[in-house]
Amino acid sequence: MSAPLTIVILAAGKGTRMKSDLPKVLHPLAGKPLISHVLASAEQLKPERVCVVYGHGGEILPEVTGRDDLTWVRQEPQLGTGHAVQQAIPYLDMTGICLILYGDVPLIRAETLRQMVLVARQGTLALLTVNLADPTGYGRIIRDAGNQVRRIVEHKDASAEQLAINEVNTGILCLPAAKLAGWLARLDNDNTQGEYYLTDVIAMAAAEGERILPCHPASDWEVMGVNSRSQLAELERHQQHNVAEALMAAGVTLIDPARLDVRGSLECGRDCLIDVNCVFEGRVVLGDNSVVGANCVIKDSELGQAVEIKPFCHIDGVRIGARVIVGPYARLRPGTELAEAVHIGNFVELKNAQVGFNSKINHLSYVGDATVGRKVNIGAGTITCNYDGANKYRTVIEDEAFIGSDSQLVAPVTVGKGATLGAGTTLTKDAPAGELTLSRARQTTIPGWKRPLKKTK
Ligand code: UD1
Ligand code: MG
Repeated sequence: MSAPLTIVILAAGKGTRMKSDLPKVLHPLAGKPLISHVLASAEQLKPERVCVVYGHGGEILPEVTGRDDLTWVRQEPQLGTGHAVQQAIPYLDMTGICLILYGDVPLIRAETLRQMVLVARQGTLALLTVNLADPTGYGRIIRDAGNQVRRIVEHKDASAEQLAINEVNTGILCLPAAKLAGWLARLDNDNTQGEYYLTDVIAMAAAEGERILPCHPASDWEVMGVNSRSQLAELERHQQHNVAEALMAAGVTLIDPARLDVRGSLECGRDCLIDVNCVFEGRVVLGDNSVVGANCVIKDSELGQAVEIKPFCHIDGVRIGARVIVGPYARLRPGTELAEAVHIGNFVELKNAQVGFNSKINHLSYVGDATVGRKVNIGAGTITCNYDGANKYRTVIEDEAFIGSDSQLVAPVTVGKGATLGAGTTLTKDAPAGELTLSRARQTTIPGWKRPLKKTK
């Protein structure tokens, strides 16, 4: 049995530079809160317990994340990173090890952390450091003549000589819990910021002859923190770049990997192509050989094989069968299901509509709360009047029906199999199968009628 692992995530900092009413760790990155990214990496390590230290304004964290399986620990007031970890001490398993993460460092990879956990399980302190061209603001790693880590000096406490050091503390640390507890109990706040620094435990460990092993992330972006909206935007681009690279590696063609936004999960079959400026939200699945044109927003939807979404479509909560063509400029709303080979054209809105095999709704229509059969043709400008201001009703259009342009189907109403509606029909009663139904006034011509003329002055 390996030593039990407790992960402590620090998230009590005020996040002043975000200038926001929302706690910093709830700001979204790639569609989910910063802290959810940290939790996702943390959980891959299968810890016995995860403690999140939150502060002022963070009361909404348990509710927003919906995570009552985590140990939520309040830190009030916030007296520094050492003080923050002290709040979690009662929840640590003293026979095990403790990994400390930051809630505002979202892109840390589980692989990096796994190496640190391995080191700490052997009784060594694992400290994650990086070399930065510009180390401004970070704690500097001070090594001795034998190149061993001796301590960390915060930027604000550093001498000119120490400020020239490029190796910095990322804040991420993994060590035996009992030792951590002992050192934390001895912290003081005798420094420029008057805070209890977690970083001071490094000097204590070194003084006691403990082994400290600096570990390094594979890329610097893993340890970049979010302190401002500008840094948040920068990390968003890093994450989107990572997602785009992974998609291309899996065989997806991206016309421009820099112009793709995945805010959730995107699964693609073989030989899919995604044009520029598409946004994917929630869980989206594209079947083999599907093409998504430029400027589409697709959320929580599943597309079958060889589907073609033309530019400028908005698709949310929809299931789309094989060989369907949608758009350009179509809006598909939740509950919509399109069977194989359906065609949806420009300026068509569908809501909770189930459309059968090979049916066509090609221009300027609203079809909501409707069941449409196979091989139906719905003419331009057709509207299902599904709402009376209080209740919603269904429209049923059976197989092979033909709906003339500019018709209104006042639900609840049924168009029978193979029925034809004349253009401009306002259908208030069921249209019988196989017949022509129309509700148009007869056309007349008034012979000799003259247009009124303006009086000449
Ligand atoms: C800290 C480190 C510094 C390191 C840097 C990396 C210390 C003393 N310094 O500095 O060596 O280079 O991170 O980004 O640890 N937090 C709390 N409670 C508090 C204070 C902070 O939960 O009372 C949390 C914050 O929400 C944040 C993290 O701890 O997630 C780091 O706090 P921050 O104030 O950003 O520390 P730095 O001064 O940047
Ligand atoms: Mg910081």
